[in-house]
Amino acid sequence: MQSTTTVEEAIRNRRSVRRYQADSIPLDRLTRLVELGVWAPSGGNAQTWRFVIVTRPEIIRALHAVAPGMLSIPPAVIAICQDKKLAFQRGGKLGQECTSVMDAAMAAQNIMLAAFAHGLGTCPILSFHSEAVARILGLPEGIEAELLIAIGKPAEQPVPPTRTVGDVLFINQYGDTNGKQ
Ligand SMILES: Cc1cc2nc3c(=O)[nH]c(=O)nc-3n(C[C@H](O)[C@H](O)[C@H](O)COP(=O)(O)O)c2cc1C
Repeated sequence: MQSTTTVEEAIRNRRSVRRYQADSIPLDRLTRLVELGVWAPSGGNAQTWRFVIVTRPEIIRALHAVAPGMLSIPPAVIAICQDKKLAFQRGGKLGQECTSVMDAAMAAQNIMLAAFAHGLGTCPILSFHSEAVARILGLPEGIEAELLIAIGKPAEQPVPPTRTVGDVLFINQYGDTNGKQ
């Protein structure tokens, strides 16, 4: 399915959606989102991310029970995980501790923007009990969940939190807001 949403529209209008319609999301749509996720950049092209698409209601309910940051029960979840051992082999301590986390975040943003472009709401969730999630998803030793992405048809239209680029942008030197110094 093609989308006519531009990248800029998706970036500006994607919101963290925390209430979803009950409709299930077909597996092929979720798989497509993960395919777009793995087109994200990764440090040293490590690609040590691993993804678990969760559609079974009882597993989603179990995740909800150990994730205080999951404010309702979505129809689907994509768990973005990292193979931490492989990340160490490919990128050393930096790869294991830092790059792998950033890579997961890059894939997450691809997934969330692509989902938005196809009419789906998402919410990134970091507030979860890591060991409990690993147990629920059957993650082998060394594979860690970095972020859960809740996905579903939106049942709310959140108000966009304000962004003020003027407060956070400097030109050439920190503190210079007009670049004329
Ligand atoms: C790393 C990260 C972790 C987050 N964890 C949670 C979470 O556990 N639960 C939640 O409801 N939202 C979570 N969010 C969503 C943020 O609250 C949200 O992005 C922020 O309020 C801005 O709103 P917006 O995404 O609609 O622009 C997280 C976002 C990021 C980037």
